[in-house]
Amino acid sequence: MSTLSYIESNRERFLEELFALLRIPSISADSAYAQDVRACAERLAQFLKDAGAENVVLEETAGYPIVYGDKIIDPALPTVLVYGHYDVQPSVPNELWNTPPFEPTIIDGKIYARGACDDKGQMFMHVKAFETMMQTQSLACNIKFMIEGEEEVGSSNLGIYCKSNKEKLKADVILISDTGMIANDVPSIDVGLRGLSYVEVEVTGPRIDLHSGVYGGAVANPINVLCDMISSMHDENRHITIPGFYDKVLETSAADREALARIPFNENEYRAHLDIDAVMGEKGFSTIERTGIRPTLDVNGIWGGYIGEGAKTVLPSKAYAKISMRLVPNQVSDEITELFQKHFESIAPAGVRVKVTPHHGGEPALTPTDSVAFRAAAAAMKDTFGKEPIPTRGGGSIPIVALFEKELETKTVLMGFGLDSDAIHSPNEHYGVFNYFKGIETIPQFFKHFAALNNA
Ligand code: BES
Ligand code: MN
Ligand code: MN
Repeated sequence: MSTLSYIESNRERFLEELFALLRIPSISADSAYAQDVRACAERLAQFLKDAGAENVVLEETAGYPIVYGDKIIDPALPTVLVYGHYDVQPSVPNELWNTPPFEPTIIDGKIYARGACDDKGQMFMHVKAFETMMQTQSLACNIKFMIEGEEEVGSSNLGIYCKSNKEKLKADVILISDTGMIANDVPSIDVGLRGLSYVEVEVTGPRIDLHSGVYGGAVANPINVLCDMISSMHDENRHITIPGFYDKVLETSAADREALARIPFNENEYRAHLDIDAVMGEKGFSTIERTGIRPTLDVNGIWGGYIGEGAKTVLPSKAYAKISMRLVPNQVSDEITELFQKHFESIAPAGVRVKVTPHHGGEPALTPTDSVAFRAAAAAMKDTFGKEPIPTRGGGSIPIVALFEKELETKTVLMGFGLDSDAIHSPNEHYGVFNYFKGIETIPQFFKHFAALNNA
């Protein structure tokens, strides 16, 4: 049987099995869901076994287990290591979902659920593609699966696991579907990811919350001060003002910028989709460049003072914010965090004390476009989309990609099938049924081309 007819005749089951994973609220950030995250790992391990994987184990870590499984058909053949994650972002605020986040529902050809695209839907395509290759006797490479449960919280235990299992994880390429493409009729492959520095800041003024009339005007208000400090970190061109911040930014070549400029992009549609009347960002760069090749600084959350019902006249004692910086090659996460910390402390006015607490970070990554693996991915997408994919730059972060290169000396191919409009991390996250099956069809083509090109 051909792979296509196998997929066609198992369509309903392939969806139902994904739904079984989507029903498990595997939210790694919230310890209230610890049992669900583990249950999801166990369910996934069973799916891998059922698909034909051997040596399936839950690799225990200090956090959530890594699901490992493999199928070595011939040591002489190339080996593909598939990475993905079974954990998801929190679903809150749940009231903004049109359907319950953990009850997958298909509406207009899209699967609505937390994790539908990021990354259960995309990761599970590999499990079903593997099953398809096993059942149609067409698996052309050795395969290893490494699916983690802590991607959304920084992958720190996966880093440790990789360091101490180099031999076991040895592969010729790492294949990941956890990014997007331009449109369903414009296939593309991300060839870069941004890194991340994430910090939490605390600004403390007076010992206790004060009457804002009795003291207001005479004592530093930590929220006012925090707002000033944050706004001073961008200049009028929306460049970041932290000294040294851009020192290591790799300038993108004119040829690469020209290639980015050729990517189809419709600003009207972009604005309409987000319900904004203008885009905003660093002067001198296009929207695609601002999210792809430029670093950023964004407040992710800010709080302090009185936020309950009605008005309470209070001059708060403390103000807080969570701030992320997206990094590009060759910025280094720890260095940027340190630059931020020094700068933030230096701009604090007298009358307040500040504290900066670093969270997880991650390094930016570039993936090659001249490799056998990239050519195999491009050929696979050409087969199934009928068009050569365009190389693009993803704005998000998958910190483990840089680590794979460092620890395993193995390069990655980011063959993602999501769309920017899939609302990952947002309410009503969804993934196209089209995209799910397109991925399941394309992955076996990758294996076929990768084996053939390695042989050539
Ligand atoms: N799959 C995303 C990353 C992504 C999305 C890359 C779209 C490119 C395009 C991943 O699950 C993610 O959300 N990563 C986090 C980083 C992590 C350290 C919390 C992110 O980018 O915020
Ligand atoms: Mn992801
Ligand atoms: Mn994510």
